[in-house]
Amino acid sequence: MSSPFHPPSFPSVAEVIRRLEPSYPVFCVFPDILRERARTFVEGFPGTVLYATKCNPHPYVLRALHESGIDHFDTASISEIAKVTEQFPDAHCYFNHPVKGRGALEAAADVYGITDYVVDHPDELDKLVSIAGTDITVEVRIATPKGKAVYDLSAKFGASPDDAVALLKKAKDYGCRTAIAFHVGSQCLDPEAFRVAMGMAKKVADEAGVPLEYLDVGGGFPASYKQDVAPLQTYFDVIADAKQKLGIDVPLYGEPGRALVAEGCSVLTQVHLRKGDDLYINDGIYGCLSEIRDGDLDPPVRAVRKDGPVDGALRPFRLFGPTCDSLDVLKLPFYLPENIREGDWIEFGLMGAYSIGMQTGFNGFVTDTIVRVDGMHEEFTA
Ligand SMILES: Cc1ncc(COP(=O)(O)O)c(C=O)c1O
Repeated sequence: MSSPFHPPSFPSVAEVIRRLEPSYPVFCVFPDILRERARTFVEGFPGTVLYATKCNPHPYVLRALHESGIDHFDTASISEIAKVTEQFPDAHCYFNHPVKGRGALEAAADVYGITDYVVDHPDELDKLVSIAGTDITVEVRIATPKGKAVYDLSAKFGASPDDAVALLKKAKDYGCRTAIAFHVGSQCLDPEAFRVAMGMAKKVADEAGVPLEYLDVGGGFPASYKQDVAPLQTYFDVIADAKQKLGIDVPLYGEPGRALVAEGCSVLTQVHLRKGDDLYINDGIYGCLSEIRDGDLDPPVRAVRKDGPVDGALRPFRLFGPTCDSLDVLKLPFYLPENIREGDWIEFGLMGAYSIGMQTGFNGFVTDTIVRVDGMHEEFTA
């Protein structure tokens, strides 16, 4: 029997097509790849790995990561905390959203016993302490330079160094434990950005003169879209080297999302109509594919026919999503075989991150069929 915790299993995407012939989009999870990625982080990151739940909160994805040794989770809402703790009662959740509703704080403290919270403003600290008390760890989030990241995650959140010093002192005066957190930006292409941010954190900590429980270096580790991406080990080495050279003598935490799960999932769509070089498919920017527009991220693709590959030289196509909105078009040209036609399938790789969790359901189109595919991906052609 299948359930979100036990999706139906197939030996390959070709077999998904052969058996289901899906005219609806299918989200394919490759647990072996997820487990391998989780092990890479658990063994290579020089500290404790928290999975950034928002990136892909599907229960089966959480399970694959948890089975490979990840039992700390960055959570940003009560719904995420509930999802994680219901599945893994012993997991440690951190409430790492810098702005929280009072009701959410009450539930976090009273129902779930959360002890670690991010803040970036004194009013939020007052609110937090008034509800959760002082037997907590207050992580002060500092803003860091965007550098070579695709998404700037310090434009909305993060205290300046001076404000962070004041916040740390205030948290200490309250009697709370203290920590520092930052996020160098998602899909960060420069490993040295972590060194720069860690240097800022060290300076803030020294000036505040308060003991730190840990330094949380956030997420931002990249996935290998068609960009020049350094290996994850380079990021781990830079972080370990910076810790040593800067004299940071507290434990490190990291909150990877994208690099942990992107590669371990794909989205299988079907061509519902071809008009010249325009293909109308059944997932789009209001579904799992919004990052292709928002981040200009360029996932690998391949075209498949039930009885084999689609023939013809690769040429650029424009892809429209299923909703009635003219904005529902993928910005990039996608290179697909020239003989592609209605009824063929297009598989998008690197779809584990910010995909299934970001769907809107607009117009009634939702990718809600999840399957498990054992083994590795078939090769993408472009
Ligand atoms: C606080 C926090 N931690 C971790 C992450 C995960 O980042 P990434 O997916 O770039 O690794 C995010 C992403 O938005 C975040 O906001």
